[in-house]
Amino acid sequence: MKSKIFDQSGQEYDKWYEENESVYKAELNAVRELISPGKGLEIGVGTGRFAQPFHVEFGIDPSLNMLRLSKKRNISVVQGKGEELPFKKESFHFILIMVTLCFVDDVVEVLKESMRTLKKNGLLIMGLINKNSPLGKDYEKSRQQSKFYKHAHFFSPEKILKLLKESGFTFIDSRQTLFRSPGKINDGETLKKGYNKGGFVVLKAKKV
Ligand SMILES: C[S@@+](CC[C@H](N)C(=O)[O-])C[C@H]1O[C@@H](n2cnc3c(N)ncnc32)[C@H](O)[C@@H]1O
Repeated sequence: MKSKIFDQSGQEYDKWYEENESVYKAELNAVRELISPGKGLEIGVGTGRFAQPFHVEFGIDPSLNMLRLSKKRNISVVQGKGEELPFKKESFHFILIMVTLCFVDDVVEVLKESMRTLKKNGLLIMGLINKNSPLGKDYEKSRQQSKFYKHAHFFSPEKILKLLKESGFTFIDSRQTLFRSPGKINDGETLKKGYNKGGFVVLKAKKV
């Protein structure tokens, strides 16, 4: 299972956000423009670095070690996978999936389960490393040296948009940031609409 490494090194993953504060801030700024109010779930909540600042009430993750940290951040957590959500249909106003689609076993099943558990007009907000961006290409090149990204399968935003459409979602909006390599990113990183060039892309889609 790809989540094993997060179970072994959850604290190390969490520390990355402190060591790369400018990157984290840029990602938060991108999500902030698209996030939605209401009852929310984060799939692959990890240590809660996105769920906490955006007041996402529920989180699911297969890794108990990651969940231990997100629980401390006051998120109601449950152990499980995005492919089999232990929630009733039409439970949530929005679902957040941050840097997790590249780690799940079956993206299509995760989208299907998101569709089932979202309310009508519910929103799915996804943050991705854009495979086709300069940063995505850097990550891909050095993937084998990273204990976390070694297990990742990066996608292009276009591929995710295609899968969203096939799963019945309507694409609404997007943001992109991280146009340079991580070492060159400082506070005030550019944030733009669209998804074609940024290393970090946020896509927002609706269940109509
Ligand atoms: C890169 S981390 C991201 C964590 C958090 N969203 C963040 O951005 O800090 C990926 C997370 O996905 C979780 N994960 C792996 N496979 C999963 C699956 N099938 N369903 C849900 N989460 C999964 C991992 O355990 C890990 O916590």
